[in-house]
Amino acid sequence: MIKFLLALIVALPISCGLNKATQIEQGKALFHSVHIGKNKVIGCISCHTLKPNVKTVGPSLYGLSLRADKLVAGLTAQQYIKESIINPDAYIVSGYEPAVMFAHYKQELSAAEINAIVAYLLNLK
Ligand code: HEC
Repeated sequence: MIKFLLALIVALPISCGLNKATQIEQGKALFHSVHIGKNKVIGCISCHTLKPNVKTVGPSLYGLSLRADKLVAGLTAQQYIKESIINPDAYIVSGYEPAVMFAHYKQELSAAEINAIVAYLLNLK
């Protein structure tokens, strides 16, 4: 029993770390796919770059993890990024129009897939 508990204490943090890395990898793959979701809808990379100041249809997401907690009062960076994906018109980035970003990712992607994209963007520095 003691051995089992010890093994658990050692194994848990390791597997959590691996899960996190796997989640980020999954989010990265989704973010960079031209088509995503159940109906192969337009993917993030068609409208966003990760390079500083390179705007395409939407704003560059470069440095997003560092500013996302300052954009909407009361929202953490994680909450802001998630809200931006599932409810894009809740907050409009200055200089951009509403109703341009694809607005149905909540129906297209699983909760795990959305969380993976959020984890990937949060992990970018
Ligand atoms: C059809 C183009 C388009 C697609 C596809 C798209 N976006 Fe956007 N996105 C925009 C536009 C335009 C804005 C700015 C307007 C606004 O705030 O809604 C934006 C804003 C954002 C913001 C807020 C950025 C900031 O600086 O505050 C995030 C985060 C974001 N998008 C993430 C995503 C992710 C993740 C995906 C893929 C799951 C995605 N977008 C797909 C066009 C798009």
